[in-house]
Formats: sequence, structure tokens, C-alpha cells
Amino acid sequence: MDKKFFDYIIHGGDYNPDQWIDTPEIWDEDMRLMNLANVNSATVGIFAWSMIEPEEGVYNFEWLDEILDKLHKNGKDVILATPSGARPAWLAQKYPEVLRVEANGIRNEYGVRHNHCLTSPVYREKVRNINTLLAERYKSHPAVKMWHISNEYCGECHCELCQEAFRDWLKAHYKNLDELNFKWWNGFWSHKMTDWSQINSPKDRGENHVVAMKLAWKRFVSDSHISFYENEIAPLREITPNIPITTNFMKMYDGIDYQDFAKHLDLISWDNYPAWDRGATHSEAVETAFVHDNFRSLKDGQPFFLMESTPSIVNWHEVNKIPKPFRQEQSSIQAVAHGADSIQYFQWRKSRGGHEKFHGAVVDHCGHENTRVFKEVSHLGAVLKKLDGVVGKGYNGKVAIIYDWQNKWATEVFCGYNNNERDYLGECVKWYKPLWEKGIAVDIIPMDADYSKYDLIIAPFLYMLKDGTIDRIEEYVRNGGNFVAGYLTGIVDKDDLCYLGGFPADKLKDVFGIWCEETDSLPEGMKNTVSYKDKSYKAVNFCDILHANTAEALGTYEDDFYSGSPAVTLNSYGKGKAYYVAFANDGEFFADFIEELSEKIDLGASPFRTPDGVSVVKRGEYVFVMNFADEEKNINLDREYEDVLSGEKVSSLNLPVCGYAVIR
Ligand code: GLA
Ligand code: GLA
Repeated sequence: MDKKFFDYIIHGGDYNPDQWIDTPEIWDEDMRLMNLANVNSATVGIFAWSMIEPEEGVYNFEWLDEILDKLHKNGKDVILATPSGARPAWLAQKYPEVLRVEANGIRNEYGVRHNHCLTSPVYREKVRNINTLLAERYKSHPAVKMWHISNEYCGECHCELCQEAFRDWLKAHYKNLDELNFKWWNGFWSHKMTDWSQINSPKDRGENHVVAMKLAWKRFVSDSHISFYENEIAPLREITPNIPITTNFMKMYDGIDYQDFAKHLDLISWDNYPAWDRGATHSEAVETAFVHDNFRSLKDGQPFFLMESTPSIVNWHEVNKIPKPFRQEQSSIQAVAHGADSIQYFQWRKSRGGHEKFHGAVVDHCGHENTRVFKEVSHLGAVLKKLDGVVGKGYNGKVAIIYDWQNKWATEVFCGYNNNERDYLGECVKWYKPLWEKGIAVDIIPMDADYSKYDLIIAPFLYMLKDGTIDRIEEYVRNGGNFVAGYLTGIVDKDDLCYLGGFPADKLKDVFGIWCEETDSLPEGMKNTVSYKDKSYKAVNFCDILHANTAEALGTYEDDFYSGSPAVTLNSYGKGKAYYVAFANDGEFFADFIEELSEKIDLGASPFRTPDGVSVVKRGEYVFVMNFADEEKNINLDREYEDVLSGEKVSSLNLPVCGYAVIR
């Protein structure tokens, strides 16, 4: 889905002039340097609450007025942040209820950030107040183009206010205690509740074995973040209805259901910190691409913003290795290829003191432009100007992988089978890799998305099924879709109650034409093998033991008591095909299987061959070719293209390490 917020790619980042309030000459120097760095925007005010409201009800906006005017005079767009991510000490001291209570039941002292209760009426009111003042003051400021809500929402609070809110949430989601007791299977260990007040949040020293309750708590926490956010943005929507709103997401952070949160945002933005050049460039590139595709998919293919990335190092790895020169440029181009309409940094200028003073920044402590990092940023800024044609262009793949936030929770909270290997995300990325390698665009979708636009849907480890999912899969296949399920599919409903009558759930047994009688789990170091089309593949961790009813067994196990039983099945159902891949593997099987599927179904693979480690991504008319191998690569193109950056005609590419090309 196309959607445009600017006419050009935004290039900028977190800017904290409030840290340099005593040295105004640095503000002027920042303006000079931003122009040199080809930076066109700045994100201001993220943690500036105590600068804006140094005492309760005493406000100081003058510095912010001045910096916004300066930025505007220099042609920079401003993304204005709300400051709720960290609060002034006076606020916590006067209203202790705003501070978070951890799962140990103890209230935190003042400190760090993200240390607030999500329920506290006082905190919500204070946030609404400061946001109202910001909106009123800057609603007509010509530089202010977007709202950046808080910063990386995360965490949870277990205070009494939250316990009450949790109980209210439960009352809204279950008709009565009888229903809750049934759905939580509270007859087990004598846990029947007779009064709502007996229910508390999951804690180490309390209830932590009622799996359905743990799932309910995760849903409640996610909803609390969204309602906290709705409280934050209410004045902004009212006072500045035309300024778009985003909040910066953190990779695949699973404390909030981002697939749900996305519906409340005008655009998605996220903070990207790959661990480049620490040994596994190829797999880092695959994982990062998966995350970009996830964020592009959150609003049906709509472009997103890359709200943060480091121009050089971070400070929070155990050892902060400097990535290779121009890796950051390549990493930024990868983001643009997958749908980013901005490249922004944490941070513009390194702070002089404090926790993040050794985190990479565009402007280093030396304070001038004569650094490798600054020059690279400036170079990238010039490159991005040549790519403005991509802005607003969204896209969807013909292939989708179901990665569902709530299924992630469900796969983690249960006890059983292989308790050491529950890497749901890793399993999805493993399926994604061979698609990435063939230049096939992939959407990452929740299980309740619209399936109808996809020619192939892959659903690894779809253990928990939300209401309606069984019908959705059935209908998709019946109408001609190709659906691939992985091991442990359709085991429990949304409350973690097992489906009765055999797995996978209900009529999925007919769709796939199988019945899974048992699941074997293999300890580390043990394996089975699967024979498939004259080749033998390793099976590890999980092996579903199947009966093929109407399905054809395409592959069979070769070892143990279930040797000879089906491990890969295909069932023709309605007009479609349902595949079941019953075992986990090292990825080799997925690669061959995808190769085979892509010969049968047009999945939109790259028209030219992509050598190992080379990624090809198409966005609009632009084709991005990126070398993530640790050696130079030559690529023969299928025809003549125009090299967008040089303007020359090309029919082959020679890409050095960290190299890339944009062609059309
Ligand atoms: C013990 C307990 C049972 C059950 C089993 C599970 O034996 O007495 O209630 O929990 O472990 O292995
Ligand atoms: C996150 C935060 C930033 C900063 C960076 C450091 O993305 O949003 O404020 O702490 O990490 O990498």
C-alpha cells in the first residue's frame, strides 16, 4: 500500500540540544554541521521533560522555541517527541504511584527510564498535560512535521492499580468466573477462583503455572501500553489533527503485540541495530531483512520510518566492534529497499557525559566534520537524495510467513516437548532465508490477516490458534491457496486449551489430510533423518509423528520406532494444496523445498541469479542489489538496467564487500 508523508527521504536523527543548553554556540555549529552532513531533519525532545517543566507547573519552552526556529531557518524538518519515556525527579518524589512495581512486588525507586506505571491516573494526567502544552505551542510551527510518541514503549508494572486494572480486563474478557475457571482449566491443582480479588499478576513468589493466565496477563500488558498511548495522543489528535503520529518500535520486542498496536499508528517506525561485522554478515542480513519486512507488513505494505540506527558503534554490546567502513550505508540502503522512507540515527551529537557518551553519533566528541563517520553520513545523505523516487512506494509479496505475536507468547509459556528449543522467531527466519536468497518478497503477517492476496503462505510452529483461524486456513486452501504448516500446528486455542479429537485442530486434519498422534523431542546432539526425493535431511528438536489419511507422504522418517512414517505430506484440498512439514531441521530441507515450490508457483523471484550472500529486493521500479557476503561478488543481470546512482547503463555488477547497487 502506497503512502507518502514527505516528498523526500528523511535523513536525520535524535537531537538533544537540551544537553547543550549552556553552550549555545554548539547549537549554531550543529546547524552548520547538519547542512554539511546532508541531514534534513531532527527528532527533538525525546527525554526533555525536566527541561520543559523543571518544577511542577513551571514551564520553560523558550529553549525549544529557539531550537525549532533555528532548525526551520536551516530547512530542517522536525519530528517532535513527547517526553513520557523518562520523568523529572520531582514528579516521582511527589507522586510515588507513578513508579513501577516489578514482578517481585517491590516498587522501584526513581531512576533510569521506562520506569512508570502504565495505569497510574496521576502519570496519565501529567503526560496528557505536557502533551497538550506541546501541541498547543507548536501546532502551527512550520518545522514540526510528525509526532514521535515517547520512546520504545516497553516493560510492565505490578502495582495495586495494575492488579485492579488486570481484574477489570479479565471481567471484560470472560463472562464470569465460571468461564474463567473453565478456560484457565483451574480444576488443575485446586486453583478454582471464587472471587475476582483472588487473581493477581503472575509473580515468581505467586501464581506462575496457570498458562492461560500468563497469556491473559501478556494480553493485558499489551493493551495497557496501547491505552497509555491512546491517552498520550488524545490531545495531539485534537489539537494537531494533521500531524501524523508514530512511536518507535524495538525490533521484534514481544512485550507488546505490535501487530495490534500498528492499527493505532499513522505510520510504523523502528530502531535498527544489527550486529554487523562480528562474524556472520549473511545471517545478520537475513534477520534484519525479516524484521524490515515485518514492519513493512504491519500496515499492509505501507512504507515505514527507520527511526534510529547507529552511524558507527553502539555502547551496549559486551564488546562494541566498529563495523566495516560503509557498512552503515549498505545497512541503510537495505532498509530503504525493504520499505523505509527515512534513515535516522541515534544520535546526532555524542553526549559529553552519562550512560551513552560512548555510543556512536554523527558528530563525535572532537566536534568537527573531519571524521570517517561524519563523511560516510554525508555521503549517504547525498545518495539518498537520488532515491527520492521510492518515497511513498509500498509493496506486498506473493508469499507470506505467519509470525504472530500472540503465538510467540503461547509457544513460550507452555511446559512440555522440547523445553530447550522454542525458537519460534528463529524458525520463521529459517523459512525466510531461502526466500531472501532468491530475491522473493515476503510479507510477515499475523494469523488473522487477509490470506487471499498470497500465492503461498508458510506457517511454522502455529501452535496456538486465535478464533477463526481454522476456518481461515480451510477457506484459503479450498479456494486454491498453497499453505505450508510446520510441526506442532493447531495444538491449543487462544486460551491454551488443547483441541480434543486429535491434532491438528478440528477440520485442519481434513485440510492437511493427516493426524498427528505423537510428537518426539530430540535432545541436543540427537537427530533423526528424513528421506525426501532421493536425499536424506537432518531432523532435530521436534518430530511430529503422523498418519497420512488422504495426504500423500512425500518424505518419511528413516530412524527410530517411527521410521517409515510420514515426515512431509501433501494434501489436495478443494482447489488448493496443503503441505505439512513435520520436523525441525538445519535449514537445508527448507532451501530445497522452497526451490521446488518456486518451480511450481510463480513467487516473484529475482529474474537474475543471486550469488551466495547477495540480496535482491525490488521496490517500485527500483531494484536494490546488496552484497552481504564476506567477499566481492559479480552478478550477471538478465538485461540492461540503468544504474540509478551513476546514471550509466549496466548489464553486470561488480560489488565489493559492503557494496550495493540500485538499478532500474
Ligand atoms: C509428580 C507429581 C504428579 C505430576 C508428576 C509429573 O509425580 O506427583 O502430580 O506432577 O510429577 O511427572
Ligand atoms: C534505543 C533508544 C535510544 C538509545 C539507543 C542506543 O534505541 O531508543 O534512546 O538508547 O537505543 O542504542
